[in-house]
Amino acid sequence: MTLLQSLESRLAAALAATLGEPAVAAITAAADLRFGDYQSNAAMVLAKQRKTNPRALAQEIIDHLELDGLATADIAGPGFINFRILPAAYAAHATTLLRDERLGVPDIGTGKTVIVDFSAPNVAKPMHVGHIRSTIIGDSLCRIARFLGFQVIADNHIGDWGTQFGMILHGWKTLLDAAALEADPIPELLRIYRDVNAATKADPAVLETCKNELVKLQAGDPENLVIWQQCIEVSKRGLLKIYDVLDVKFDHWLGESYYNDRLAGLVEEFLTKGIARESNGAICIFSDGSQKPDDDPFMVHREDGWTDNPAIIRKADGGFLYATTDLATIQFRIDEWKADQIWYVVGVPQQLHFRQLFEAAARWGKTGDFRHVAFGSILGEDRKLMKTRSGENVQLTDVLTESVERAAKIIAEKNPDIQGDEAAEIAKIVGIGAVKFAELSQNRLTDYVFAWDRMLALQGDTAPYLQYSTVRIRSIFRKLDAPFDASACDITLNEEAEIHLARLHARFGELLPLIIEDFRPNLLANYLLELARAFHSFFEACPVLKSEDSIRSSRLALCELTARILTTGLGLLGIKCPERM
Ligand code: ARG
Repeated sequence: MTLLQSLESRLAAALAATLGEPAVAAITAAADLRFGDYQSNAAMVLAKQRKTNPRALAQEIIDHLELDGLATADIAGPGFINFRILPAAYAAHATTLLRDERLGVPDIGTGKTVIVDFSAPNVAKPMHVGHIRSTIIGDSLCRIARFLGFQVIADNHIGDWGTQFGMILHGWKTLLDAAALEADPIPELLRIYRDVNAATKADPAVLETCKNELVKLQAGDPENLVIWQQCIEVSKRGLLKIYDVLDVKFDHWLGESYYNDRLAGLVEEFLTKGIARESNGAICIFSDGSQKPDDDPFMVHREDGWTDNPAIIRKADGGFLYATTDLATIQFRIDEWKADQIWYVVGVPQQLHFRQLFEAAARWGKTGDFRHVAFGSILGEDRKLMKTRSGENVQLTDVLTESVERAAKIIAEKNPDIQGDEAAEIAKIVGIGAVKFAELSQNRLTDYVFAWDRMLALQGDTAPYLQYSTVRIRSIFRKLDAPFDASACDITLNEEAEIHLARLHARFGELLPLIIEDFRPNLLANYLLELARAFHSFFEACPVLKSEDSIRSSRLALCELTARILTTGLGLLGIKCPERM
């Protein structure tokens, strides 16, 4: 049980005793430690309902509180109840964490299946830095949800069936450099896509040819199907290389094309059930009038007032759309995978698509907890959308390569003893970790500025700083004559710096469930920075190796617990820690 849960159950008992009936005992971590460790506004909420004096009610609740050995409580301001955890309680809790594999993290997910839909690049188009956000955030959410006990299915819903294939097919037949494709498929596919795209602009006849290639593919032309298939295979190979560098894994790669056979039937079903209707030859989902226009994703406000904003699921020419596929995907995930929740990690521009999708699914009777985990853009240091010098989107692989190269230089300067394969491996861990952490330490909804120096700094709010902290802790243990067995020791806390460290240890298990409430891995990232800083203060204030007996082993245990939480926490962000750096 976390300390927060212990407090909550005691507060619940006190509320029941005071009021003669159960009431919600909500407690949060205090924002300012001067007022205590935790705070509850229960007395204020209840006093308002009962029209009594909140401070008097708070006092009554405190009189009924049995906090023996755990905390003290007092009243503040208009009727807050503030709790201060006793150092002995922090010590006892830290001692239990030492013996707990899960580091105090509750299991809140057992029995629940969540599909995480992330990364999902489009075949034959490059993964750009925008996809980095989906890939890194999505992977971290998978790791956190698994750690919390959820059954997680990571699904890469790649865009493998789009209009881009008209151009790709034409380019493949007329421009393909087989050797280049073999060597590095993604840039070659991109090249032919770009060249054909340019040609279509210069010559309408080329555009017509591309359209015909697409129609043939959609009609099942064997030659085009084979090329399409090959194209997907080589793209997947290229993508796997990038995912390998990023250490990101998927359980499935069910791309858009997987759902092709289901789309016609789906549209028919929507028509018979009256969820969709015909409009100018297209089949569309309109507002059903059940919501206020402000909340209705099928309405939009234009100059002349509210008008329809339907989702098209079949075009007048018979073609199906992104939304049609996503509806079929929801059905599949619920029926085949028994999904309770689906988290879509996709940029802000697709917000309307997901609002319409979730609403349409609900009308169709497909229920579940569906969330659009949206994120903003990545900006260059000039605060404009990140582009290369020639004005193109920066590609993900280039970002990763550059980060690893920069990390290698820094390590070579700091620690020239490290060489060869080891140096290369550490540069990879540090360079990739820096990119991931820069991403995950931001609020996902804000646009973030990509600044190399800032994200690679050894002293800063960075992955290298955290990785370096774990290396420092390891080096303490290397100086011991005999291996240290933390499971046999008891933590005692005397100094303020020790108490603060144990306070943060206790927070780890309270924080993780909060992160998936609104998908904010940045809470974890910032917590880890706070923990590392608390560790460095502790290490300066409290001698470890030079202290004696039980104090020494207690402090070593605090070091070990810190290292375990740091490495576990970084691991949940998808970041590894080197042995040295
Ligand atoms: N391929 C899409 C894109 O790059 C993202 C797909 C997201 N997932 C989904 N189920 N719609 O924009």
